Amino acid sequence: MAEDLVITRSADKTAQYKSLIPQIEALITGEDDLIANLGNICAALKEQFNWFWVGFYMVKDDQLVLGPFQGPVACTRIFKGKGVCGTAWQRAEILLVPDVDAFPGHIACSLLSKSEIVLPIFKSDEVIGVLDVDSEYLSHFDETDAQYLQQVIQLINFNG
Ligand code: SME
Repeated sequence: MAEDLVITRSADKTAQYKSLIPQIEALITGEDDLIANLGNICAALKEQFNWFWVGFYMVKDDQLVLGPFQGPVACTRIFKGKGVCGTAWQRAEILLVPDVDAFPGHIACSLLSKSEIVLPIFKSDEVIGVLDVDSEYLSHFDETDAQYLQQVIQLINFNG
């Protein structure tokens, strides 16, 4: 496996995802350790998009617990229904938040974070974690991000 990513400098977000996703697939294919793969996925996403924060929270008992991430230190535990992540878990749906200050109960791990997207991760119809991405810019994420980040999640083997 080559460890170098080819980073697309195109301003077109779709082109960036289309270049990156096959590389993520190559990066995690043949490795069955979940933590290793989640770590590399965060690193690849951060390297391509330079988002403020990108990481995983995984369901453990009745909480989301911080997993692999790239960015500033973050809160380690989130209860179901709390914040954007806990709400995405409870509703089992993707949440696009253009302005985190307008989201009731948003958990501000950093005051610099302005917008956010959270995607639930499913295993047999049950949410087992979330992918959380934060930006220091308002309205940074849209349906394109939702669509392609969903593809990233689908590459992951959550049995590892
Ligand atoms: N803002 C999130 C908490 C996680 S941090 O952003 C990394 C939330 O409201 O759930």
